[in-house]
Amino acid sequence: MAVRKSFLSFAPPWIGQEEIDEVVNTLSSDWITTGPKTQRFEEEFGDFVGAPAALAVSSCTAALHLALATLKVGEGDGVITTPMTFCSTAHVIEHLGARPILVDVEPDTLNIDPEQACSEIRKHKAAAGPNKVTRIKALLPVHLYGHAAELDSLLQLCEEHGLALVEDAAHALPATYKGRLVGSFSESSSCPILTCFSFYATKNMTTVEGGMLVGPSEHIQEARIWSIHGISRGAYQRYSARGSWFYEVVRPGFKYNMPDFQAAIGRQQLRKLPSFQQRRHRIAGLYSQAFSELEELQVPVRRPVVGHAWHIYAVRLNLDALTLSRDQFIEELKRRNIGSSVHFIPIHVQPYYREKYGFRPEDFPVAHREYQRLISLPIFPKMTDEDVSDVVAAVSEIVRRFKR
Ligand SMILES: Cc1ncc(COP(=O)(O)O)c(C=O)c1O
Repeated sequence: MAVRKSFLSFAPPWIGQEEIDEVVNTLSSDWITTGPKTQRFEEEFGDFVGAPAALAVSSCTAALHLALATLKVGEGDGVITTPMTFCSTAHVIEHLGARPILVDVEPDTLNIDPEQACSEIRKHKAAAGPNKVTRIKALLPVHLYGHAAELDSLLQLCEEHGLALVEDAAHALPATYKGRLVGSFSESSSCPILTCFSFYATKNMTTVEGGMLVGPSEHIQEARIWSIHGISRGAYQRYSARGSWFYEVVRPGFKYNMPDFQAAIGRQQLRKLPSFQQRRHRIAGLYSQAFSELEELQVPVRRPVVGHAWHIYAVRLNLDALTLSRDQFIEELKRRNIGSSVHFIPIHVQPYYREKYGFRPEDFPVAHREYQRLISLPIFPKMTDEDVSDVVAAVSEIVRRFKR
């Protein structure tokens, strides 16, 4: 058995001297929290994705929460989302007292299935009287792994039923759908579209922790107020030379602002994003080339209309052709010093959601079946071709050894 000399992490960040210099420069200045650098980062990011306005926040979770708060989602409302996601996608709906309405995913991309979303909307609209549990306010798709969800069908549903679209784009920087970047769709749509990005340490670019909400200017203005205690003006506008001490609290807001020293990292990372993406594409290409030959594995798809952000490279095991489980496969990788992960344990099998809504695993059969055979392999921009070869060799060897 070939074992790598050092452990290959699943998704380490790539912070260079440029980011370090910018952080030191910011920390040495008189303004270290939300101020001019955050404002520049918002402008640059908005320009990059082609969004009318942008708000930098403390996480993608915060962006999702703000998006829904801005849309006035609350008690008695429902938001349609996917079980194949990180828990925060559903948590933010719960935080507002609304109900996450889960819809199963499409077998190839594992993105929300628009046809099932349509049936769910119709079902809820048809329900009447005391059993009418919710008024559906929004669709919340996740562009899973960086592969855009079926935006045309989802937007058509939103327009037909008067819903807003909140995109969980934590993985989707930069992803395209029919040649347009995720984050740029709000300009041409008649329904509100709010898009939420993550800059968590493992993401395609990072601010250590952080996120960005983009969308129509009036929504972003409102979200900005919600993001800083519901105060009508931020601290920089109060404490800078041209500021005034007076402020008014107009909402019971949150504390979700991004400080300047983090925006400083973000601005440098954004400049490097195109080169980071080139590398991700190359790694995904090398993996797919190698693994397509193994019938024990299913490689990720890319639909022709989509430009993939390759945040996660998830292979699926053809378990019938192997004598080991997914969990054992991960252990075998670990024995060879290769890190890996699983994206995701579906929401409906997590104890909180399972117990609150009485979900059974088979309620979302595609999400549940696919979860059991998913493995995310290392993919990150500073991964070398040698690292990629080590992963390919380890995976191929495990497949050969445990072939049925
Ligand atoms: C699909 C998805 N949505 C939301 C989040 C939350 O992002 P953050 O950690 O920036 O809040 C994550 C985090 O990994 C995620 O994978």
